Amino acid sequence: MARRPLVAHVVGARPNYMKVAPVYAELERRGRVEQRLIHTGQHYDVIMKDVFFSELPLPRPHVELHSGSGSHAEQTTEALTELERVFVDLDPDLVVVAGDVNSTLAGAVAAAKQGVALCHIESGLRSDDWSMPEERNRVITDHLSSLLLTHSEDADKNLASEGIAAERVAFVGNTMIDTLRANEDAARGLAAWREFGIEPKDYLLVTLHRPSLVDLPELLTRTFAALESVAESLPVVFPVHPRTQRTIESEGLTARTSVKLTPPLPYRSFLSLEAEAAGVITDSGGIQEETTVLGVPCFTLRKNTERPVTVTLGTNTVLGLEPEVLAEIPALLARPKRGEIPPLWDGRAGERAADAVERLLTLVEVPA
Ligand code: UD1
Repeated sequence: MARRPLVAHVVGARPNYMKVAPVYAELERRGRVEQRLIHTGQHYDVIMKDVFFSELPLPRPHVELHSGSGSHAEQTTEALTELERVFVDLDPDLVVVAGDVNSTLAGAVAAAKQGVALCHIESGLRSDDWSMPEERNRVITDHLSSLLLTHSEDADKNLASEGIAAERVAFVGNTMIDTLRANEDAARGLAAWREFGIEPKDYLLVTLHRPSLVDLPELLTRTFAALESVAESLPVVFPVHPRTQRTIESEGLTARTSVKLTPPLPYRSFLSLEAEAAGVITDSGGIQEETTVLGVPCFTLRKNTERPVTVTLGTNTVLGLEPEVLAEIPALLARPKRGEIPPLWDGRAGERAADAVERLLTLVEVPA
């Protein structure tokens, strides 16, 4: 009897799980492929990793690697070397990667070197800012992929303009929004805002972790000062990413701030806070998308976004990197962007992604 095709999913950093889970779960439900989940170890703390496997429809990783911290090159090459060994052992028919983190790039390059077909979830996003490590990861991963799953028409246009054949691209929608919809009721039921002594629609939620902001002590210090000013009129809750925590500690920012700092949160607790916030201040990519779907105003502290649909259709406003601009937030909240939900961000992207994967696999030669 012919064996079922083997699909190996590579994850490694926090935002990967929400994007991969709906695709993994749908392929599992259909039962026509065998699957393995490989974790590179890029994120390794319980709160950045383990906690998500209990909340999302993902098994514990079948293979756990230890690429860990280090420079971008160290992290990527370590994951690449280990993934090559795993792919030689497993001999998968398809490797699936998601997003734009270093583990995504490592998975893509390892698959390409091994001659294995590659599927990229969340293809085609471009900031046109090559100083971002994520931009390099996106472009290289896309060009190595056999199947590019996109979530917006902007992404399709970007890929077409880089000469990627339309046959390789499938516009399936946003799988991360499937995860949001599947967890939204449970998250709202948690009422996580209570733990912070605040009221729904009466606080700002903040997340900052990009090196271009948090690795610059002077800029992060000014951002803290700006957040403190905002917090005088509206409470501010700030779950702190480990990268940001490093600079906070080195600059002694914790002692001086009136902003409510908390360690990173599990998925549903964060979603609960996000859904009921008056507004969100962030430099994350995924949160720009989630707030658009939740109808919550989002203020992005970056010079650009690779997710323009969240600005053109959604609730996102890109404010730039100068923290003093945060003083404008009360005025912006007085006339909030209402936004609309982009096409195919409908909670069913995982099904369309599974269709595309199954279509591709009928083209892959499966050994008897
Ligand atoms: C990575 C991604 C970024 C993504 C983010 C989400 C790349 C290039 N960047 O950034 O796109 O938005 O994840 O979180 O892949 N650390 C811990 N514990 C952990 C993980 C990290 O303490 O579990 C600390 C380490 O000191 C590490 C630093 O955080 O050096 C940064 O981690 P790293 O994986 O290099 O990048 P992120 O900033 O998390």
